[in-house]
This record gives sequence, C-alpha cells and structure tokens, in this order.
Amino acid sequence: MTQTAIDNLAHEDRIFEPPADLAAHANVKADEYERAAADRLGFWAEKAQLLTWETPFTEVLDWSDPPFAKWFVGGRLNVAYNCVDRHVENGLGDKVAFHFVGEPGDTRDLTYAQLKDEVSKAANALTELGVRAGDRVAIYLPMIPEAVIAMLACARLGAPHTVVFGGFSSDALASRVEDCSAKVVITADGGYRRGAPSALKPAVDAALEKLGDASPVEHVVVVRRTGQDTAIVEGRDRWWDDVVDTASPEHTPEAFDSEHPLYVMYTSGTTGKPKGILHTTGGYLTQCAYTFQAVFDHKRDTDVYWCTADIGWVTGHSYIVYGPTAMAATQVLYEGTPDTPHKGRWWEIIADKGVTLFYTAPTAIRTFMKWGREIPAKYDLSSLRILGSVGEPINPEAYVWYRTHIGGDRTPVVDTWWQTETGAHMMSPLPGVTAAKPGSAMAALPGIAVDVVDDTGKSVANGEGGYLVITEPWPSMLRTIWGDDERYKDTYWARFPGVYFAGDGAKRDEDGAIWILGRVDDVMNVSGHRLSTSEIESALVSHPAVAEAAVVGATDETTGQAVVAFVILRESAGEGGDDLVAELRSHVAKEIGPIAKPRQIMVVPDLPKTRSGKIMRRLLRDVAENREVGDATTLADSSVMDLITAGLRKPSSGE
Ligand code: WTA
Repeated sequence: MTQTAIDNLAHEDRIFEPPADLAAHANVKADEYERAAADRLGFWAEKAQLLTWETPFTEVLDWSDPPFAKWFVGGRLNVAYNCVDRHVENGLGDKVAFHFVGEPGDTRDLTYAQLKDEVSKAANALTELGVRAGDRVAIYLPMIPEAVIAMLACARLGAPHTVVFGGFSSDALASRVEDCSAKVVITADGGYRRGAPSALKPAVDAALEKLGDASPVEHVVVVRRTGQDTAIVEGRDRWWDDVVDTASPEHTPEAFDSEHPLYVMYTSGTTGKPKGILHTTGGYLTQCAYTFQAVFDHKRDTDVYWCTADIGWVTGHSYIVYGPTAMAATQVLYEGTPDTPHKGRWWEIIADKGVTLFYTAPTAIRTFMKWGREIPAKYDLSSLRILGSVGEPINPEAYVWYRTHIGGDRTPVVDTWWQTETGAHMMSPLPGVTAAKPGSAMAALPGIAVDVVDDTGKSVANGEGGYLVITEPWPSMLRTIWGDDERYKDTYWARFPGVYFAGDGAKRDEDGAIWILGRVDDVMNVSGHRLSTSEIESALVSHPAVAEAAVVGATDETTGQAVVAFVILRESAGEGGDDLVAELRSHVAKEIGPIAKPRQIMVVPDLPKTRSGKIMRRLLRDVAENREVGDATTLADSSVMDLITAGLRKPSSGE
C-alpha cells in the first residue's frame, strides 16, 4: 500500500464500530487495556492461569540477562496435557477437536478423547524409536490430522519439532534437518493437491541422501495418505500404521520447565541462511491461548473455528495446533487448495460445518475478489461472526470486500499483526472493544508494548511514519535463533538498543492508530510467505548459467509482492532465451520451493551498484514496477540503468 493510499484512507473516516451484541458478550472488555498497563506482569501472571501448571511458577519474568528472557520461572507443565488431556478430564472428551476435510472429499472427525489416544500412541511410538526429551523431530506432512498429532506428540515428549512446509524442496528440508540435527523425520507418502496425489516421501529420501553420512536422522516415519508407490529403506523407514496404530493409547505426560524448548521454526531473514526461531513452553502457550480467546472472542461451547494457514507456517502452529486446542476449540482442518474441485470450496465448507470464526490471508481474499463475489454469494455464510486477516498488510479494498461479501457486512475483521518471532498476536483490534479502520492493525494488544520510532529511536508523533519496535519483553517472544545467540542479538536487538526491532515500517495516524507499511529490510512477503532476496539470489547463482543475480519484491495485485529477478549470465551461457529463463525459474523452485519461483526473470548486462558494491534494489524495483527510474547518481556507473532499461524493451519474462 502506498503512503498516499494510507493518507487518503485516514481521511475517509471509515471506521467500523464493534457490533453491540458482540460487545455485550465479549470475552475481553475495554478495561483490560488499563488493567494490563497498570500491572503488565501481574496481567500476564493472571493469563497464565488459562493453563494448567503441574508446578506453579515463582517469578513472572526474569529479564536480568537481556535479550534472553525467562517467563514463568520455576513453573512446570506439559503442553499436550494442556491442549488435550485436561479437556477430556473436564468432560469434553466427546467434543470435536477437528473436522478434517480432505481435498478428495473424505472427512474425519476427531474428538478430544480420540485426539488424546492418537497423541498418546504417537508419543509411545516415538519413544520406541528412541526419541527422548530434548531430541529434535522434523515434520514434513500435508494438512492432515497426523500433522497435528505428530506435533502434539513431540510436545508431549518435550522433543522440539521443526515443521517444514510440505511445499518446500528436498534441499530446503535437508538444510533444516541438518541445522537442528533432527533424529526422526515424520512424513507421508504424499498428499492431495489440486485434484491429484502429490508425492512427499521422495523429497525426504533425496534430502537424506544429500546429507549422506552426516545425516543425523535415524528413522523416517511414513503416514499412508495417498497409497501411492513409496520406496522404503529397510531399517530406517517405518510406516505410521505399523508403529503408531499398534502402540498403546496409555501415556503419562511428564511436566517440563516453562522454558523447555517447544519448537524451532525456520524463517527467512536478510541473509541466505534461514533462521531457526526457537519458542519455548509456558510463555508461548499462555500468549497463544490468551490471544486466541481475546482476538477471536472464542466461545468454547458454540464456536467453530477455521484457520486456513498451513501447518508448516507459524500461523498453523499458534492458531491451529497450540492456541485453539489449549482453549478446547472445535476446528476445521482442510487439506487442499481453495479451487479444488471448484472455486466455492471454502465457502461450501463454511456453510457445511457452520464455521463462526474464520482466519485467512489477504492474498487469498484478493484472489477471491478476482474470481467474483457471485461465488461466495451462492453459499449460506450466516454462521460467521468474526473474520481474521494475517500475514501481510491488508489493503482497505480487500478488507471491505471481505467484510461485505464474506461477513455479510456484520462481522468485525481483526487484522492481526505478528511474526514467526513474536509467536503470537501482538497488534489487532479486539472485536468487542476496538473500532477498526480498514487496513490498520490499530493498536497493541493488552499486555504488549509497541512503538513507532524514527532513525534515532525516538517515538514519532501522530501523523508520522517510522520503524515498528516492541519495547517490553512478551511471553511468546522468540528466545533465540537456534544455535546462534549472536545472530539473535544482532538481528533484533542491535538496531535500537534495548528494544526489539521487527523489521517493519509503520505509521501512526492522526488518531494514534498504527498502520503497518511492510518490511524495511531485504525480506519479501509473497502471498503472506516470507522470502529473503538473498536466499533466492544464492539459488540463482548456484545455476551454472548465472554469474550474478539481484532479486526484488515488486508490488503485485494478488500476491502482495512478487519475486522479480535480474540476472547477469556467464559468457558460456550465450544470450539466454525464454528456455533458459524457464529453466532458471524451475531451478529456484527446486532449490527452495515453488513459492519462491520468480514471477519474472530479466537478463541484464549489468547491475546497479554503489561505489561500495551494494546493489541498489530501489532502482531495480522501479524497473520491476514499470516506474520511471529514481535517482541513480550514487551509482558507481550511472549508465547501467540506461543499459538495463534499454535492454528490457524486449523483456524475457515468465508465464
Ligand atoms: C507481515 C506471519 C501487516 C509483516 C504471522 C511481518 C503483516 C511479517 C501482518 C511476518 C499484518 C504479518 N499486517 N503486515 N496483519 N501480519 N505481517 O513471520 O511484514 O511469516 O514482519 O509471520 O509479515 O511474517 P511471518
């Protein structure tokens, strides 16, 4: 969204007040902000009581060694017990935890009692395979119930999981397995995607082959999902059917320290190497549980919740697996794409399951806008009462369309700002309290302290823009980058000493509401997925035809940003034609995954660099967005941009 667009909007005075009936019965009332501000740590201590602790904590926060935080010091608890067992003990055993909908149309309901048995069996099976507290387990699965079961089984054992998105390539899987030394990989033969089975297991085989003797993996557990032919390595690979289905459903959960590692989630940073973001136990689960019931106003006995995120992203972790199950929610879990077998699939599921709370990404909303409002209009969406958005700035047009055509102009839209690193929601309107402006995440949640600062770290005034920072530690904050405390300090705590720098630009409008303007670093946001420019650049230069590459995120109507690459070819590669461009695009998909495939690759004679050799991406972005090229006077060779733009009169582009 451009600055002008935001300024225009701020003057439009389009504000949606909370509906009166929702406000009257909301879980969280207006006084919560003041209570939290008056005693922030006391507030979080109170919210920690949403969980069941085996041993109560003795101190809320230990911040004696910043930026390394310890929350709920001395407390002990088991995450899986909190997300599953205690609900069964409380008489909710027959409540549906997941309404699973497979892409081919198969369905499976899993109650909390069944989930408890499945998680216990998986925990017993993993123990049998040698997994102990502290060991890492990689999970590479489609969106099927076993993904949730596997994650909760790891949590139950205190074995941190690292879930790798099923759309990532074998190389991406290999580097993650290696970085966190995973002992076991849990995968499937395949999953259903766009109407056809799509294999997963071969990517695991390729990843482990790549790691060779250095592979830390002792066993691969394979869920049978599609029934396709699957190679099994004797001794190493086991079918889930054989090890989990036959295991005992009795398993006693052990309580772990509040700071015991829960999982590592890899995300893109500004360098080529993904960062393993470490989340721990008590603080993470507290903030996931609290924000789930505050931001979605979740009512345990009546709501049906659906988050469309994949389990391979942090949203799937915090708002499918951990927050909602901690609060005994009933959820929909859908395996496939929104247009299979038809473009009304999501709305059909909402009508069929009576979904009341719905959480998705702006890129999906913009796709539906393109497909036309007639499609959702065919379905009864009257069960919906709150809509959520996550992953990137939601443009006001998409917000209003979502509210009008999906929400019947009745439902509040909660625009939730957070990150893999923050673990849980940090900014969002509260649906029963906060009036919302389309396109603004509004304000920090109770108990969270954010600010917008200028270059020198000073708070900006209303009406001004700057950098988004978090000024106080929060329970679900990342604890470090796996194996790299220095990078953790440098990346997040060095830009503005003493506060967390989120990497996003933001603006405070005349009323003090906060608008997120997107990343200010070399991280792109494509369809709500984080990709780093340098990661894609390294993938491109790993191809023998490429001498040098520069990647930028260009504004894209549907995906928010799109990957546009500029490459200089090696002499030996000749001029490069459409075939080579197509090959380079596939090469990136193979190295990282299809989501990283450039929308466009331009073959150029040179790249714009400053005298110190830094690529001026700003100028390339101008080219990628078909704008007049901005000030190029600091270039080492100012004729470069002329060469690039002249050469592009006959662009080689992707599909
Ligand atoms: C962006 C996803 C504007 C932002 C949960 C952030 C958003 C990055 C919003 C984190 C939002 C996420 N409005 N921008 N509501 N939510 N972002 O780690 O740039 O995949 O820094 O976490 O997404 O992406 P991540």
